[in-house]
Amino acid sequence: MGKPWTAYYRLALWALLLGAAMAQRQLHRTPNGSHQQPRRQQQQQQQRRHLTAGTPWHGQCERYESLYESGIWEDTVFWQEGGITEGLMGAAIGNMSLNGGVYRRVAMPMLLLKGQLYLPAEVYLNQTWHWYGRNFLTWIHALKRITERWGASVPDVEILIAADDDPTQDAADPNLWKQGPLWPIMKQCKSSQSADITIPIWHLYNMHPNTKLFSQIDRLNRETPWETKLQRAYGAGQTYHRTMPLTANNRTFEGNISWPDNAMLREKFAQYLKEELRHPDIVYEEFSPIETWGKNKMVIHIDGITCSSRVWQLLALGSVVLREQSNYYAFYDKLLHKFVHFVPFWQHRPREVLWAYNWVTENDEAARRIAARGQAFVRDALTMDALECYWLMLLRQLADLQRYDPGSANAVRKVKTAASSAAGGGVPQAANSSTTTTTAGPAAGSGGYYYVPVDEWLATQDAARMHNWVEGYCVNFGKAQELLPPTRLYNGNA
Ligand SMILES: *[C@@H]1O[C@H](CO)[C@@H](O)[C@H](O)[C@H]1NC(C)=O
Ligand SMILES: *[C@@H]1O[C@H](CO)[C@@H](O)[C@H](O)[C@H]1NC(C)=O
Ligand SMILES: *[C@@H]1O[C@H](CO)[C@@H](O)[C@H](O)[C@H]1NC(C)=O
Ligand SMILES: *[C@@H]1O[C@H](CO)[C@@H](O)[C@H](O)[C@H]1NC(C)=O
Ligand SMILES: *[C@@H]1O[C@H](CO)[C@@H](O)[C@H](O)[C@H]1NC(C)=O
Ligand SMILES: *[C@@H]1O[C@H](CO)[C@@H](O)[C@H](O)[C@H]1NC(C)=O
Repeated sequence: MGKPWTAYYRLALWALLLGAAMAQRQLHRTPNGSHQQPRRQQQQQQQRRHLTAGTPWHGQCERYESLYESGIWEDTVFWQEGGITEGLMGAAIGNMSLNGGVYRRVAMPMLLLKGQLYLPAEVYLNQTWHWYGRNFLTWIHALKRITERWGASVPDVEILIAADDDPTQDAADPNLWKQGPLWPIMKQCKSSQSADITIPIWHLYNMHPNTKLFSQIDRLNRETPWETKLQRAYGAGQTYHRTMPLTANNRTFEGNISWPDNAMLREKFAQYLKEELRHPDIVYEEFSPIETWGKNKMVIHIDGITCSSRVWQLLALGSVVLREQSNYYAFYDKLLHKFVHFVPFWQHRPREVLWAYNWVTENDEAARRIAARGQAFVRDALTMDALECYWLMLLRQLADLQRYDPGSANAVRKVKTAASSAAGGGVPQAANSSTTTTTAGPAAGSGGYYYVPVDEWLATQDAARMHNWVEGYCVNFGKAQELLPPTRLYNGNA
């Protein structure tokens, strides 16, 4: 008995030594020292098994690791080589945040530091459209609530969120590769061809989907069981043009439908069904409330400008979703699979809607299971707990990639913390340019501080009385959102 054990032991030891030697060679082979990671980060990554490991939110979030981790890793892989430096973040902020141009597409820098949220003193919501302003307010209040709950266990990280739908950077464009690392920009939607980092869309907070829809699933199933649903594919709603600046998102019609750039895709699709396909049970109307679509066995999902929040509303209905393959993806999309949660169509041709319809008709039992999995998905993976955990895991991953300490004494973008105000309330020293030569983008704002605490920022926005918003609109915005209670769950240090 002893002998084979010793043999295995020796073998294992050899494997270990060999592995160590190879790891050593790997390090030495790194061709360019400037891209090597600091040792601290290497160790952290080697030791970490999951994005919630060792955190106070592990208990709540562990069950979402297996759901959301892979998507977070995929969205952030762009920065594995050089990390996110202060200079890169500065360039992203400088290019995106202050000058919205004609389309007013500004992005909002935010800083999470020691369990507090900070916003840029000089960025006002009147620099953008009121609807983008509301999107920002949604995320600001969602993040503020996370800091209220989890305090200093929220990772210290600087982020940049853009409120428009369109993909920001074409990751397939060789001219962009030459310009250096892409900017880390968070958005509600990304193209399979863009470098955006996906985050939960504002509708998941503003439409109260958990209380108004996901919690109603049992009732919907009782009222309209599968057997009673009409053998029909139904959709409606024709607003919104489709943005398709990238090849991956291009749409092509067939038949006699003319298709100018940026046209109203849903409207054109309705026209295609009516004039070209002419199937009596595949219908796309101008408008009807989404709750009523559930009387049909199949519901048709066509994305909006980019990603559409309709997809999770339709998945809740208990009908099988026929889903346009737009190559636009939301943060939960890595979890949704063809013929598991939905039946795909229009990968290439709009005619594929007929193939999807025929498949469902021929495979009723399988289709029924797909519909049930769609309901289970929204009920399990889009809860308020899940959204909070997604944010925490994503922030942690970005904090790991960050190659600087935001909010530190040396940081370019200075922070007005309670401590810095108490220490004299004075104007901080301008950053020493010789220590920040790699840093582009704006530095100090009001009173020398770039970032101010969220409550101060919200009050300043309200004082400016922009967009005809009522008094206190920005401060109170969170009260109208579906959020977890502001219960303090962690009081310790980071
Ligand atoms: C390292 O990378 C920098 C920046 O990309 C480049 O200028 C330099 O030539 C590289 N050095 C080596 C040894 O490859
Ligand atoms: C915009 O980005 C480029 C490249 O990343 C950078 O060189 C430039 O300084 C940035 N502009 C501003 C105003 O920050
Ligand atoms: C989209 O397709 C049309 C028609 O084939 C083509 O003219 C256009 O250049 C394409 N756009 C992109 C971004 O690939
Ligand atoms: C499409 O247009 C062609 C040529 O104008 C015509 O012959 C054909 O019948 C049209 N097809 C349909 C489905 O309307
Ligand atoms: C800035 O840094 C340079 C070089 O390290 C140093 O000589 C200079 O005194 C510093 N200036 C300030 C204001 O700290
Ligand atoms: C936005 O509001 C600020 C504060 O009142 C004001 O200084 C600024 O001029 C306004 N900007 C625009 C574009 O209206």
